[in-house]
Amino acid sequence: MRPLLRLIPLLGLFLPAVASPAQHAAVNPRAATFTNPVLWEDYPDLDVFRVASVFYYSSSTFAYSPGAPVLQSYDLVNWTPVTHSVPRLNFGPQYDLPRGTPGGYVKGIWASTLRYRASNDQFYWYGCVESNKTYIWTGRINNNTNKWTWTPHPPIPTCYYDSGLLIDSDDTMYVAYGKTTIHVAQLSGDGLSQLRTQPVYTAPGNTYIEGSRMYRVNGTYYILVTQPAAAEWVLKSTSGSPFGPYEARVLVDRIQGPIADAGFAHQGGMVDTQEGQWHYVAFMDAYPGGRIPVVAPLRWDGDGWPEVVKDETGGWGRVYPYPVPVPTTSSSAGTETGKEVGVDAGMGRDEFTGGELSHHWEWNHNPDDAKWELVGGKEEGGGLVLRTASVTGDLFAARNTLTRRITGPRSSGTFRLDVSGMRDGDRAGAVLFRDQAAYIGVWKEGGNARIVMVNDLRLTEGTWTTASTGTVAATGPTVGNAQDVWLRIEADITPAFNTNTMRTTTFSYSFDGRTFTRLGKPFGMTNSWRYFSGYRYGVFNFATKALGGEVKVKSFET
Ligand SMILES: *[C@@H]1O[C@H](CO)[C@@H](O)[C@H](O)[C@H]1NC(C)=O
Ligand SMILES: *[C@@H]1O[C@H](CO)[C@@H](O)[C@H](O)[C@H]1NC(C)=O
Ligand SMILES: *[C@@H]1O[C@H](CO)[C@@H](O)[C@H](O)[C@H]1NC(C)=O
Repeated sequence: MRPLLRLIPLLGLFLPAVASPAQHAAVNPRAATFTNPVLWEDYPDLDVFRVASVFYYSSSTFAYSPGAPVLQSYDLVNWTPVTHSVPRLNFGPQYDLPRGTPGGYVKGIWASTLRYRASNDQFYWYGCVESNKTYIWTGRINNNTNKWTWTPHPPIPTCYYDSGLLIDSDDTMYVAYGKTTIHVAQLSGDGLSQLRTQPVYTAPGNTYIEGSRMYRVNGTYYILVTQPAAAEWVLKSTSGSPFGPYEARVLVDRIQGPIADAGFAHQGGMVDTQEGQWHYVAFMDAYPGGRIPVVAPLRWDGDGWPEVVKDETGGWGRVYPYPVPVPTTSSSAGTETGKEVGVDAGMGRDEFTGGELSHHWEWNHNPDDAKWELVGGKEEGGGLVLRTASVTGDLFAARNTLTRRITGPRSSGTFRLDVSGMRDGDRAGAVLFRDQAAYIGVWKEGGNARIVMVNDLRLTEGTWTTASTGTVAATGPTVGNAQDVWLRIEADITPAFNTNTMRTTTFSYSFDGRTFTRLGKPFGMTNSWRYFSGYRYGVFNFATKALGGEVKVKSFET
């Protein structure tokens, strides 16, 4: 996370030389190539690691629930979300979005850490929430069913701010954390409490650094830290001790990115393949879409410092050799058990038939589980029923808005809704969700269900309380009694970070799923990073008068 955008010049740090063509050739030149960004979706604050042939990627999610998604890959290029480390945000009642509170917007899960512990076949997730304490969840995959189960543990009463877990070769667990001054804590044998902690490194001139990721490679300890949102440093301890002393070197600093107007590839983590080829996975600010990952090979110099392999201009390459020797497509073909979604990082169609929501979906805050239901398998036609869960005039205060990331640079999200169960005063629809939002929806007034486009829904920056509940910008036809309505959002999240260019989104509806009619003017999206999460597609249903109504979401297509 990044409280301030700082571009302070680095003093006394040595810049690695640009890779020569000979160094490029060190990476298998005959392999196929991949193109950055590997995943054009908002998955920030990544922690990557490998277990045998499987790569894992953990990410932050603020007040979305479930939180801390885990993506899986066999090649570092094709990623599929397979679970969430935090099935329900257990950080306090505000994460249930109770009436009359601003909830946990922009709080919740910031940079957190996930690693696999072979000695007991468990994954350990740690995340400091609201600077108070560090929450812990452990997870396990059932080898027969491929299902994950996650268990919460009592929090550690120390904030491991931007934590990076290392499970050492002797099974001892360490966490690097902090800002400006980096600490390393040693955990108890079960990983559930702290044995000791001490500062190990302070940035020269108190330069702001954060985002720790910790490794041990060939007996040397490394901590990667970021100087947001421009640079990544490597801290290295050759003493044989995880507590240092550490010396620092710049890994990348304001490196030209592989796509325009997307900020610098900076904070991230490194991981090796089974063949011993290391890669650095970093994210770039790609607002309005959020923060997206890019991958580059690493090489090591004679003194054990990693260096990013750059392109011929000295920038982060758009194209690199494939990370694994034989390109595999096994992870990109909808591998989620029992589901028809997940193809190509979220492109596809979801009819809500799997018996549980796929891990592409996250609720805005914890849902009221009594108010939603998956109503059937494939034979029954599937579907997600959203009963109204809140009586409010404010979508930001309404529970049970279901969201998913927008795939960039341009994509659409189409929800098919049966609105026949709506009651007087209910509001349902498809929202382009962020702190400055807009939607196309159905307002039920008396016996009429009318299509409307609403814009100017806004949270106040900083307090993240509601500033505006929105304005009806355009009104469409009424929905007939036995009709389904398709609501479509077409978003252009081509990065425009630090520019005045405003990317736009359009809203349209259809009564047959084929012919769509635009409603309202295009909505201009904010490029600000301060809300952290990028724009999402969402579906909502709330009451302004009384509970009891419902909609059925029959499908989502992107
Ligand atoms: C963290 O501490 C602050 C101040 O004491 C409190 O207001 C907030 O509710 C706490 N948050 C959590 C998640 O415990
Ligand atoms: C699951 O498989 C992994 C890898 O083969 C193995 O290490 C682990 O012990 C297995 N876990 C269980 C619970 O059987
Ligand atoms: C670690 O040591 C092995 C064996 O000496 C060597 O092949 C490998 O290149 C080393 N890795 C790094 C990252 O230095």
